[in-house]
Amino acid sequence: MIKKREKFLPYCLPMIGEEEIAEVTDSLRSGWVTTGPKVRQFESDVQNYINCSHAIAVHSCTGGLHVALTAMGVGAGDEVILPSLTFCATANVVVHRGATPVLVDVKDDFNISPEAVEAAITPNTKLIMPVHYGGMACDLKEIYEIARKHNLGVLEDGAHAIGITYQNFKVGSDDLVLQEWHKGVNSAVVYSFYATKNMTTGEGGMIVTAQEDLANHMRILTLHGMSRDAWKRYSSTGSWYYEVIDSGYKYNMTDIQAALGIHQLRRLDGFIETRQTYAQMYDEAFSELEEIITPVKHPDRSHAYHLYVIRLKEEALTIDRSQFIEELKAFNVGTSVHYIPVHLHPFYQKQFGYKRGDLPKTEEIYDSIVSLPLYPLMSREDVEYVIEVVKHVIQTHRR
Ligand SMILES: Cc1ncc(COP(=O)(O)O)c(C=O)c1O
Repeated sequence: MIKKREKFLPYCLPMIGEEEIAEVTDSLRSGWVTTGPKVRQFESDVQNYINCSHAIAVHSCTGGLHVALTAMGVGAGDEVILPSLTFCATANVVVHRGATPVLVDVKDDFNISPEAVEAAITPNTKLIMPVHYGGMACDLKEIYEIARKHNLGVLEDGAHAIGITYQNFKVGSDDLVLQEWHKGVNSAVVYSFYATKNMTTGEGGMIVTAQEDLANHMRILTLHGMSRDAWKRYSSTGSWYYEVIDSGYKYNMTDIQAALGIHQLRRLDGFIETRQTYAQMYDEAFSELEEIITPVKHPDRSHAYHLYVIRLKEEALTIDRSQFIEELKAFNVGTSVHYIPVHLHPFYQKQFGYKRGDLPKTEEIYDSIVSLPLYPLMSREDVEYVIEVVKHVIQTHRR
């Protein structure tokens, strides 16, 4: 029998160190509480880390995606193709632009299906918006080949993707943009630094692109459409004068967020390594259980395990996914489900006519997935405890 742990193990927690706390305090004392020098330093640090030409800090990935869609010319009458198995933000920003989200199926690796993308293209398609689900890159080469063939833009929702590689290059890097299959496509990637992500600034995001014109436009859109460097207007090197050259948004990052980000970025590779070690412990332990399917891996890409998502073979169990989650909770283990597919949400059903049955693979996956706790703040003993509990629950409810 398992000894139930006393304290609840949340499905996720951020790992904030003393350096972050000192840097935030420094921002508060300096008077730069909104966009200032630390935001510029953080952008430059991300640029160097990823090896990309342009990095624009924003208050959230959602804001970054909205800005990028605007700068990439998405508007009324356009269609944007994206996976239904994503967080609602990916689709909501398309709706904010007055465009139509075209939701398509994913594959067994939880990433968008290139075949489904190609099948969904119409004369109104403007852009493809793949998601690097859970911290593993989607089929970038295939997606970009489709984009080139049909003259479409690609906006990568990289909410889970900072620090991951595809064909040995970081997602978002200029190295990928230089690949033959990528050439000539209008593109950008947006990372999220939300509290649960691979690294965090509380709320926050970063847009990266190799295209200078696009970068300049996006930067202006993040701060009311005001001309470049308007953020300096209260400093000794700035000027009171600015011009509004577009109807922009208020999506700028603050120095308080960047203070966190500067130190989180330095620890990111270590965070990812810990996640990978723990994921391997899960993989090995669950390989003994026929009732569980562990996450798919690809040899040409790394996995940051922002999420560790298992699939339950319900036909082999006497309990369903919801009961499995409740049983884990009874042992003080927190879990989550990523995601309730966008096409099953009432707004998308009412507004765009989606219904259950439209995307069979996504629904099959949704019905069987559970995200287990996985984050650097967990100890090896925490991981071992989760393994013990999962094994116990499965063995108790075997058919
Ligand atoms: C796939 C995906 N896209 C977009 C977002 C939005 O990110 P943010 O909370 O930084 O706006 C999230 C965050 O949960 C996400 O998981």
